[in-house]
Amino acid sequence: MCGIVGYIGKRDAYPILINGLKRLEYRGYDSAGIALRTDETRVFKCKGKVQDLENHVEGLDISGHIGIGHTRWATHGEPNDENAHPHRSMNNKFVIIHNGIIENYSSLREKLIRRGYKFSSETDTEVLANLIEYIYLKGNVTAEMAVRLALSKVVGAYGLVVICEDEPDQLVAARKGSPLVIGVGKGEYFLASDATPIIEYTQSVIYLNDDDVAIISRDELTLKTIHNDKLTPHIQELDLDIEQIEKNGYEHFMLKEIFEQTQSIKDTFRGRVVPASKELFLGGINEVIPKLVEARRILIIGCGTSWHAGMVGEYLFEEFARVPVEVEYASEFRYRNPVIYNDDIVLAISQSGETADTLAAINLAKEAGATVLGICNVVGSSIPRNTDAGVYTHAGPEIGVASTKAFTAQVTVLTMMAMLVGYRKGTLSKEEYEKHIDELACLPEKIKSILDKSEAIKELSAKYVDSTNALYLGRGYLFPVALEGALKLKEISYIHAEGYPAAEMKHGPIALIDEQMPVFVAATKDKSYEKIVSNIQEVKARKGHVIAIVTEGDTVIKGMADHVIEIPETLEALAPLLTVIPFQLISYYIAVLRGCNVDQPRNLAKSVTVE
Ligand code: F6R
Repeated sequence: MCGIVGYIGKRDAYPILINGLKRLEYRGYDSAGIALRTDETRVFKCKGKVQDLENHVEGLDISGHIGIGHTRWATHGEPNDENAHPHRSMNNKFVIIHNGIIENYSSLREKLIRRGYKFSSETDTEVLANLIEYIYLKGNVTAEMAVRLALSKVVGAYGLVVICEDEPDQLVAARKGSPLVIGVGKGEYFLASDATPIIEYTQSVIYLNDDDVAIISRDELTLKTIHNDKLTPHIQELDLDIEQIEKNGYEHFMLKEIFEQTQSIKDTFRGRVVPASKELFLGGINEVIPKLVEARRILIIGCGTSWHAGMVGEYLFEEFARVPVEVEYASEFRYRNPVIYNDDIVLAISQSGETADTLAAINLAKEAGATVLGICNVVGSSIPRNTDAGVYTHAGPEIGVASTKAFTAQVTVLTMMAMLVGYRKGTLSKEEYEKHIDELACLPEKIKSILDKSEAIKELSAKYVDSTNALYLGRGYLFPVALEGALKLKEISYIHAEGYPAAEMKHGPIALIDEQMPVFVAATKDKSYEKIVSNIQEVKARKGHVIAIVTEGDTVIKGMADHVIEIPETLEALAPLLTVIPFQLISYYIAVLRGCNVDQPRNLAKSVTVE
């Protein structure tokens, strides 16, 4: 969480920092600030969004060719002006921005207080600023050395950029656990939490690794480890263009990303079918396919929406490849001393590739000797760099905080992986394999036909704007879709919603149903169809409002539900990729009609880099 940017070069730093912060606002948006350097370093910061910061600096001196900026997602201390970054050290020697959490901050703070330090905020970052300064003044060392020595005393995660008043023509940046990218220009460098603020200026970037420290002046970048070992910077070229990160006429990123699913699924699938042999080919995991075929067990780990995609993966792998699968919340897995065999395949799923719990779970699995694979969207992020092999989802940048196209791209990759392993293993027949490949290719058109109904879905959504609770039901492959539908609604509209396996309803949640309760049911034609029809009847008998996603031409459910949304027929295993679309649209429209900020829902951040 939190977004950080930095610039050093010949241009005016302010517009680069402000535009960068706008691009990174999805990472946190409770306060924002910048520091600009001329003869001295000026800090401007306030509670609120980047727009509030722009208003705050109106009429002030915003000149300077060196600067740093921060958009915050509060961890230590409530969102207010004092807790906003950048933070100054007590004797004004250092100004710092930080993303991450310093876990031992309270003992460090105590020690610094005993040495005469006073604090003006409640943040762990100010502790770090003062620790760097204390070491700098006491040890009579350079700024870079003070940063490295301070970081060696820190437990926790950080991506940080530091300005030192005495060494004004340089920035010192460091990373552990929180991402940091450096853009390399001609006589200038850019820093950011991800590449989106950088791509307007350069496509050449360096991703910092954990324990890297960069010392950056206009003309030179020195990279070393926290232990002072010199490193050779590895410059990579990005494959990202500016349109991908703009709204392109849509009211919100979330709506744009929902509509992009026709393309993102195509992009995820494209180039992964060999036309001549009609074989799937997943280059990133090609080498480990034999291990997957032999696997006695697959563990899938992720958080939130990615965990829901993992649950669809469980159904897919068990059906196509007949291999036992366990799906785990990364946060639970990492702390509960799980049994991991060295022949396990651990599959980590993450849109951002930076989720702290997922990264920690990956490290645990690696220590236990398992083969760890990743399914990620952000190229070059930490998870792909920490896994043995993996597959990118090619969904393109997802900026809306609520995940939409990343989910369908993850499920597309999982489907391809499970099919490929099943086919190689002989548990999926050639005929079924090819049938599913053909159908995958038809899905973008089918998604388009669902999106074409968005006006009708909007009208329907308006009926449930004032609901206070909602239930989402599904069976089999559509149970994870029910979970995902409920998560989408609650996170952006703040309506309490629960997803349940439809048959479980009678073991508790049925008690909630009355005439106020909308019950969204994913009920397309599959082998559980008759069963879910009975579940719908159970809801109707208690006067619940049923809104059902059904297969085109369904007359049975149409006759009993309050509303139906018809979607094209598809194969059972591929149904999550279609049924989730109306649920995404319903959540979006309800949230917009309730006046919620769908792209930046309260309390949330896109990239959860703290545990
Ligand atoms: C929900 C959502 C979150 C993320 C979760 C994991 O819409 O976006 O639940 O899915 O924070 O993030 P990644 O996939 O980046 O690891």
